[in-house]
Amino acid sequence: MSKKYHVTTTVNGDEYEYLCEAQQTLLDALRDELMLSGTKEGCATGDCGACSVTVDGRLVCSCLMLAVEAEGKSVATIEGMAQGETLHPLQRKFLDHAALQCGICTPGFLIAAKALLERNPEPTETEVRYWLAGNLCRCTGYDKIVRAVLDAAAEMRGA
Ligand code: FES
Ligand code: FES
Repeated sequence: MSKKYHVTTTVNGDEYEYLCEAQQTLLDALRDELMLSGTKEGCATGDCGACSVTVDGRLVCSCLMLAVEAEGKSVATIEGMAQGETLHPLQRKFLDHAALQCGICTPGFLIAAKALLERNPEPTETEVRYWLAGNLCRCTGYDKIVRAVLDAAAEMRGA
C-alpha cells in the first residue's frame, strides 16, 4: 500500500484535513477527498483552465499542483464564490448573458475572472481576453463570457 500524506489546508475559509498520495493532484483531492466537485477536470494537462482555483490568491491549474503542496495554504474554489443564496456578480452576469452551456468550463472561467477583477477592477476587453486565454470553452463562444465579465466589472465598480 502506498504511503499517504496528511495535509491540513484552508478551503473557502474553512479548515480541512485529508490524506493523499504523493502523486495525487490538488484537483483530485478537492473532488475525491473533500467532495468539492465544482472544480472540473477538462484536460488534466494544464491546457484548458477548467480546474482553476486560487491558492493564496494566485490563480493556478489544480490539475498541475500536487495535493501535498496545499499544506498550510488557502485555497478558493467555485463553492466559495456565492455567499449563501447570494450569487457573486460574475455568476449573475454569466446567467444574464447566457455565458455558459455545458458548464464544464464555467467554474474555471468564474474563478479566473474573479482573480482578474481582484487585480484589475477596470479591465479593457483586450485585457479580459488575454487573462482568460488559459480557459477554453468549446460550446458557448467567448463573446458572451467576455461581455459578462465586463458587465460584472462595471457593476462591481458601481458604474
Ligand atoms: S484540467 Fe487542469 S488545465 Fe485542464
Ligand atoms: S460552456 Fe461548454 S465548454 Fe464552456
